Amino acid sequence: MAFARLSSIVAIALAATQVANAGLTKRVTCSTGQTTANAKCCALFPVVDFIQQNLFDGGECGEEAHSALRLSFHDAIGFSIHGGKGGGADGSILAFNQTETAFHANGGIDDITDRQFTVWQQTDLSAGDFVHLAAAIGTGNCPGAPRLQFMFGRPAPVAAAPDLTVPEPTDSVTSILARFADAGFSAAEAVALLSSHSVAAADVVDPTIPGTPFDSTAGTFDTQVFLEVLLKGTAFPGNGSQPGEVLSPLAGEMRLQSDFLISQDARTACLWQAMINDQNRMMTQFKAAMAKLQTLGQKGLTDCSDVVPVPAPFAGPIKFPASFSQADVQIACHTARFPTIQTVAGPAPTVAPVPGS
Ligand code: HEM
Repeated sequence: MAFARLSSIVAIALAATQVANAGLTKRVTCSTGQTTANAKCCALFPVVDFIQQNLFDGGECGEEAHSALRLSFHDAIGFSIHGGKGGGADGSILAFNQTETAFHANGGIDDITDRQFTVWQQTDLSAGDFVHLAAAIGTGNCPGAPRLQFMFGRPAPVAAAPDLTVPEPTDSVTSILARFADAGFSAAEAVALLSSHSVAAADVVDPTIPGTPFDSTAGTFDTQVFLEVLLKGTAFPGNGSQPGEVLSPLAGEMRLQSDFLISQDARTACLWQAMINDQNRMMTQFKAAMAKLQTLGQKGLTDCSDVVPVPAPFAGPIKFPASFSQADVQIACHTARFPTIQTVAGPAPTVAPVPGS
């Protein structure tokens, strides 16, 4: 869809809004028929459809949806509560992509900035609104995901974020938690944000095996990743051991060193274990931490969360992959009982790569 056409749909949507009073909460009915809490948000419904069609293959939880979530993190984390870093969730990673994609921790992210840039240019959104709306939509395409908040109205970013703000899989837990704390996040919030690795794969950790997932259900936003990161590793999925990678329990799966160390560290092990098979906990904590992440450094935004499509639920419960059981778990939390989990029948699986990587 061309820019002119999209703009005219947006204009019609805005021109024909009417206010309705639904009980105690004032709602606005847009010309498109959708309702929202604020007339400003009407302009976003056509953009949501445009992003679904042009970025996410009509609403899939595929490679682009995963990357859009990762991009929102790499954009926003360039921030410090003490000042002196970047503008936070401001879209600088998209607007100043030439600078930020050159940072080592942003390896592979040029794929998604390239994809998003042309789609962004066909909307009227600021770079920050685009990056963080796309992340909310893309994440919501994954069954089991919470419906993420979307706050509207970020100004254009003023500069690229500085280098060395994005954690690397080779970093120690102390350094990762310190970086999160510097951006305003507790250890519990850091673990909650790592729920994102439930819908994730690596392209550049081992470039010989692009699209290698972090769990066996990369198309579902479930707690499987918290379980599988704890399973004893036996092999590397690709070209031997790479920096930032530790032995993986399943063929075709990659285990990040940082995820594994966080699952084992005394500061985070019980937070990690508590996520396992507790879909509600993961959804609630991830949603709250993302709401904070996606508004870092921003103020005066309008709540347009109701433009974000409602994700499909995850039926659950999660299971051990075939041939695995509690005997294979490297339990590091000794103050809480490990949940009882069934095992999928059959031989040990080989996890398929995420297509399109
Ligand atoms: C300790 C902090 C973190 C580290 C060290 C880390 C590291 C990584 C690495 C190395 C990859 C694979 C990159 C590649 O080879 O293509 C990756 C992928 C990913 N990360 Fe993280 N990450 C962290 C936190 C987060 C957070 C907080 C989020 C989101 C809130 C996130 C979302 C993702 C997603 C969705 C992917 C998959 C992208 C795709 O499949 O295209 N990560 N991460």
